[in-house]
Formats: sequence, C-alpha cells, structure tokens
Amino acid sequence: MRLKGAVVAITGASSGIGEATALAFARKGARLALGARRLDRLNAVAERCRQKGSPDVSTRRLDVGKRADARAFVAAALRDHEQIDVLVNNAGFGWMGPLHEMPEEKVDEMIATNIAGVVATTQAALPSMLERRRGVIINVSSVLGFRAAPYSAVYSATKHAVVGLSHALRGEVSGTGVKVCVVYPSSTRSEFFANTEAPIGPVYPPSWVARLIVRTARFPRRDAIVLPFRLVHLTEPIFGGLIDHSIGEARRLRSPGLSGGATPPPPP
Ligand SMILES: NC(=O)c1ccc[n+]([C@@H]2O[C@H](COP(=O)([O-])OP(=O)(O)OC[C@H]3O[C@@H](n4cnc5c(N)ncnc54)[C@H](OP(=O)(O)O)[C@@H]3O)[C@@H](O)[C@H]2O)c1
Repeated sequence: MRLKGAVVAITGASSGIGEATALAFARKGARLALGARRLDRLNAVAERCRQKGSPDVSTRRLDVGKRADARAFVAAALRDHEQIDVLVNNAGFGWMGPLHEMPEEKVDEMIATNIAGVVATTQAALPSMLERRRGVIINVSSVLGFRAAPYSAVYSATKHAVVGLSHALRGEVSGTGVKVCVVYPSSTRSEFFANTEAPIGPVYPPSWVARLIVRTARFPRRDAIVLPFRLVHLTEPIFGGLIDHSIGEARRLRSPGLSGGATPPPPP
C-alpha cells in the first residue's frame, strides 16, 4: 500500500502507541482520521501530525466501547475523506490483579473496548473497503494475545479474541483485495501502565510499535511479531504450562500483594 495520500483511521490516537502511529503515518504524507475520548489531547496530536506532513487530519471524540460511537467514527472518516485505506484498531487498556478481584464493571468495559470496539469499527469500515477492493485492517493485539499472562486474565482473553477475529476475517476476505493483520506489541512505554503494574522485562518506545504498524500497512502480513516473542510463540505448545507458572511466580515476587489474591475467596 502506497501511504502518501492514503487515508488512515486510528482509534485511541490521543496517547502512546496510537499517538506515535498517527505521527509515523503523518511523516509518510498520509491523511488521518483520529479518534479517542480525550478530544483536547487528540486535537494536540492532530496539530503535530499536520506539522509532520499530513495534508488532512480530522478528529472525533470516540468511545469505541459504544457501538454507535464506533460506527459514527467510521462514518465521519468516510464522509470527511471519502475512503478509508487503513484502519488501525488500537484503542485498548489493561488491568492487573487476581481475576476474582476484578470489578464487574471493569470486565464489561474491557470487553467492550478491547474486543467489541474492534468488531464494531471493522463491521462499519468493511463494506466500503470491499466495494473498492482495497484496504488494510490492522488490529493491535499484544504478546498476551498468544502468551496469556497470569493476573491479566481478562486482558489476555480480549487480546486472544482480537487474534481469533483477525485470522478468521482474513480468511473471509481473502481474494477481495482487503487484508487483515495483527500487530503484537510487547511492553511499551505509554499511559497503559497507569492502569496496571510496571512490566517485567524491557520496555520499548511507542515509536517502535508505530514503525511496525506503518510497515505492516505498506506490506500487509498476517502476524507482525517482534523476533524474540516469535520464538516464545514457537515454544508455547511444549513449554506453555511451565511459562504460565513462571510468569505467575515472577509477578508474585515482584508484587507480593498479588500472592494473597492467588487464594480463592471464601465461600459466601
Ligand atoms: N503499552 C504496552 O505495553 C502494550 C503492550 C501490548 C499491547 N498494547 C496495546 O496497545 C494499544 C495502545 O495502548 P498504549 O500502550 O498506547 O496505551 P495508552 O497510552 O493508554 O493509550 C491507549 C489509547 O486508547 C484510547 N482509549 C482507551 N479506551 C478507549 C475507548 N473506550 N474509546 C476510545 N479510545 C480509547 C486512549 O484514549 P482516550 O483515553 O483519550 O480515550 C488512548 O489514546 C492498546 O490496545 C493496548 O492493549 C500495549
């Protein structure tokens, strides 16, 4: 996909990976439709995108967890720019702690944002892409989308769901000119960790993930995983159980508060 002049719609572009991705596409001369809930932050990102070289940037307040909002975001992008060449489903958040202590509202919000939102924007964008026989859908999962992490059970489940959705849809649209890709970031410096514990292991700058997303838009591939994690992916069928245990232990050691949570709650 040639990116100069292409229209790229990005959810969750007000900070972190989404912001860095908007700036990276702007540098390539792409036109942008940006969505997130914090409109002031989004407008500031849009201004920087214009300075970096994007000829046309629109912004819209978006709560992707609300289906009507998600559909309206895509409709507005199509109205403002006449087409969407690349849809980056990036909006999402994490939560860390024992599953039985996760508040019900947080579970609902996470499922609505991290997976139902991806379904809604994709359903809204697909018809015009299929009609034009052109388009790339890039879904931002996580390494937790193939390597679930203890104490991030619902988050891991939503990111696995994003992978399943993407692979199934890729098969559905094969031969139509529309491509579906998954990007799997590992720990990345962003506001993500305001909601969750500090990560174990190296933390990468959001610009790295942004570069991977831009490269995936140019050369669409099914799975964009950075090399060390591709190796983890390959060893999963043999060492999966051991890795479950080791990550659980590592997280308990790092955050002793979690160990109490490993005990099931008393019966009511
Ligand atoms: N950081 C990591 O280590 C890491 C690793 C793997 C995967 N990821 C994934 O990467 C994506 C981006 O995360 P990040 O690291 O860049 O975190 P971040 O800095 O917190 O950014 C999250 C973005 O999503 C938006 N967002 C959250 N809920 C939303 C909603 N309901 N509707 C619309 N926008 C919403 C936020 O904007 P508003 O608050 O303004 O709405 C923000 O722009 C997420 O899907 C995350 O799961 C992150």
